[in-house]
Amino acid sequence: MKNKIIREQFNKQAEKFSEFSFTKSRVIYKFIYDFCRIQPGDTLLDVACGSGAFALFCAEKVRSVCGVDISDRSITMAADTARGRNIQNASFIRSDVEAIPVADGSFSIATCRMAFHHMGNYQKVFSEMVRCVQKNGRICIQDMTACDRKETDDYFEEIDKLVDISHNRSLSKAEIIDLFDGQGVRILNTFESRHEFEINEYASHAIQAPENFEALNRLLETGLNDTALSALLYKKGDQTFLKKDGIVVLGIKE
Ligand SMILES: C[S@@+](CC[C@H](N)C(=O)[O-])C[C@H]1O[C@@H](n2cnc3c(N)ncnc32)[C@H](O)[C@@H]1O
Repeated sequence: MKNKIIREQFNKQAEKFSEFSFTKSRVIYKFIYDFCRIQPGDTLLDVACGSGAFALFCAEKVRSVCGVDISDRSITMAADTARGRNIQNASFIRSDVEAIPVADGSFSIATCRMAFHHMGNYQKVFSEMVRCVQKNGRICIQDMTACDRKETDDYFEEIDKLVDISHNRSLSKAEIIDLFDGQGVRILNTFESRHEFEINEYASHAIQAPENFEALNRLLETGLNDTALSALLYKKGDQTFLKKDGIVVLGIKE
């Protein structure tokens, strides 16, 4: 995905994205916080931090946090929220995370939530996360994952691109795990999940052009008639639901 498109899209949809139930769930923040074994002495780098909700949740509990994101609007929202809540140990940088403007080993932990599926050069982003943490620092990625069956995956990839033009590709669980293995980051823990979303709520996390919204509805109609998709796309009454798989992986840089 061209980073210019990501920047423009999140400049437009930062507010909508920050209101999405999955984005603002403090239950999920707490889960990731515990999963990452975050300690009061930690210095945390949140990569592709969006409007900063997870970083600011952590800021109240750790030594310092720094959020980095390519979207000007998201970084402004994050900095404004920190100021409004008088949080002094949080900083936010607008930058492409393919080249994070901090020195090697600056942090004890680097996290990245729900962003690898936007990134064309996700390997470079991962290597930046590794570079930015000190020896024995932790690295955590949480993201939605590809479907195992190719035809099912192709279908949901098309759905996700119509929902948000800055969606690039959901990685498979194996691709995410390979990132850690490939850079000598020892995996400490993995967790797999499946979440159900009502389709209008799901689509409302992003902004669609009218023609994409219409194409999305047509594609949903087709999908609802395909029994091979029925475990992941179905109706309950007059509402349509989809299920998305995800993974959280925590590793240590040795
Ligand atoms: C789906 S949002 C997730 C935001 C945040 N991590 C959260 O959980 O709320 C994806 C974020 O990734 C950012 N992003 C994607 N590619 C990026 C890149 N190459 N450099 C910096 N930020 C990027 C977008 O601007 C957007 O804020």
